[in-house]
Formats: sequence, C-alpha cells, structure tokens
Amino acid sequence: MPTILITGASSGIGAALAARYATPGSTLILNARGLARIEEVAASCRAKGATVLCESLDVRDRPAVRAWLARIDADHGLDLVIANAGINGGNPSGEVETEEAAFETVDVNLYGALNVALPSVTLMLARGRGQIGLISSLAAFAPLPDAPAYSGTKAALLAHGLALRAKLKHRGVKINVVTPGYVRTAMGGDYDGWRPMEMSAEEAARRIVRGLERDDEIIAFPQPLAALARGAALLPERLRRLGMRDFSFKVGKSSRTTGGR
Ligand SMILES: NC(=O)c1ccc[n+]([C@@H]2O[C@H](COP(=O)([O-])OP(=O)(O)OC[C@H]3O[C@@H](n4cnc5c(N)ncnc54)[C@H](OP(=O)(O)O)[C@@H]3O)[C@@H](O)[C@H]2O)c1
Repeated sequence: MPTILITGASSGIGAALAARYATPGSTLILNARGLARIEEVAASCRAKGATVLCESLDVRDRPAVRAWLARIDADHGLDLVIANAGINGGNPSGEVETEEAAFETVDVNLYGALNVALPSVTLMLARGRGQIGLISSLAAFAPLPDAPAYSGTKAALLAHGLALRAKLKHRGVKINVVTPGYVRTAMGGDYDGWRPMEMSAEEAARRIVRGLERDDEIIAFPQPLAALARGAALLPERLRRLGMRDFSFKVGKSSRTTGGR
C-alpha cells in the first residue's frame, strides 16, 4: 500500500488531501509547523484505517527536511510526495508588500517546496519510481498585483515542475503541477476581495487526487477560470492588466507567522 507525504497537512487543501488518502493500509506522513493541528488531522485519518506519522517541521529548514525525507524513504519508501505548504504574502494595508514579507513568501512557497521536492526526486530516482505533486496556483498564469511574491513563487514552481517532468519522463518519476483557483481555506479566507468560483478544500482535494491518478501534467481548476487565466497570458500585457482589475484584494491576518493556528 502507498506511502504518501503531504506538507502543510494541518489545514485547508493539505488536510483535505490527507482525509482523501486515508484508507486502510495507506501510510500517511503529515507535516506542518504546529504539531497540535496535525495531530487532529492524523487522528481522523487513523480512524479511517490509515497509519499516520506526524512531523512538526518548517519546510524552510533544508537540512532538517532532507534528513527527514531520507529517514522516511528508508523506512517506508516514498510513493507520492505533495509539496503543499504555503503562505499568502501580500500586504494587509493594500500597499506594496514589504521586502520582509516578499522574501518570507519566496522562502516558504518556492524554496520550501523545492526543499521537499528535490531530495524526493533524488530518492525516487534511486528506486526508479515515485510521484511528486507541486501545489502552485492559477496565479502562476495570471499574476496578482496584490501578491507579487506569491504569484512569482507559483510561476517558478510551474516552470520548474514542467521542466523537471520532461527530464524525468523516462526515469520512472512523475512530476505534476497543481494550479488551483480560489479554495475556501484559512489562507483563502485571508483574501478580502472577489473570489469567483471558489470551491471547498474537499472538492479541490478530489480534483487533485484524480489529476495525480491520471498523471495530468498540469492539474488546473476550476476549468473556466483556468482557461481564462491561461488564455489571458497570451494577451497583450495592456489588455491582460485591464482584465485583472477585478481581481484586486487585501490580505487579512496573514497566515505567514502562525505555525500553530
Ligand atoms: N486557498 C486558496 O485559494 C489556494 C489557491 C491556490 C493555491 N493554493 C495553495 O495551496 C496550498 C495550501 O493552501 P491552503 O489554502 O490549504 O492554506 P492553509 O489552509 O493556510 O494551510 C497552509 C498549511 O501550510 C502549513 N505551513 C505554512 N507555512 C509552513 C512552513 N513554513 N513549514 C511547514 N508548513 C507550513 C500550515 O501549517 P502551520 O501554520 O502549522 O505550519 C498549514 O498546514 C498553498 O501552497 C497555497 O498557495 C491555495
């Protein structure tokens, strides 16, 4: 039965993915910074028959993440790794985000995701099999003026993931990039603005699991918003910018410093 590792599994999309993968015989490795909330998710997954290990770790801590992945791989063999942990960035005042907030967003959303994904690639290549899901965002296609660092990290993950996928195609390791639209979660709730076609974390998790099973290279949803975001990238920049006017928002209490909420 599969061993599935999910970062940022104590809340939102990560917790919903854990619930979906929790079946008798599956082994779930769940991570976030705040242990109490992961333990709550773990308890409900165990009640469904899964074996669950929890790890309180900041994905920014590269040596600790690498050691953790090596340990889990040696003990269980990693079948699927989902690099999901992320934060909003942005500026609650609606002003340009501060340097500190921007670098923190890059550290968590980009370096944090790569800290998880790249050692997993190495471990999976050694066994000749495995799958890695990178949780990006539709903001990768349609950068949000109120969250430049966030949009940049998600675009970088998309590019990195697709390039890696092509490179690893014949070596048994699959890479899939997930680009959700608006999802009702703690992070989603921090966006004070229009959130068209917002869906529940459970629905997002259902679509992610299906896309990973089909090995879709880009798992983009909801379909109409994904088509708009991807199509807008082809427009002259002046027109694209006009179309983005309705997508401005303010960030509320940012999720970036919680670690235990
Ligand atoms: N919600 C949306 O509308 C939406 C749309 C597109 C993409 N996404 C992406 O989906 C992913 C999950 O977002 P969500 O909406 O489910 O957010 P969420 O409900 O706020 O959950 C974020 C999770 O990440 C963990 N986390 C944050 N920083 C971390 C760190 N440094 N190290 C380890 N864990 C950390 C949090 O736990 P701790 O605070 O305890 O560490 C929590 O478990 C993110 O990558 C996000 O960018 C979300």
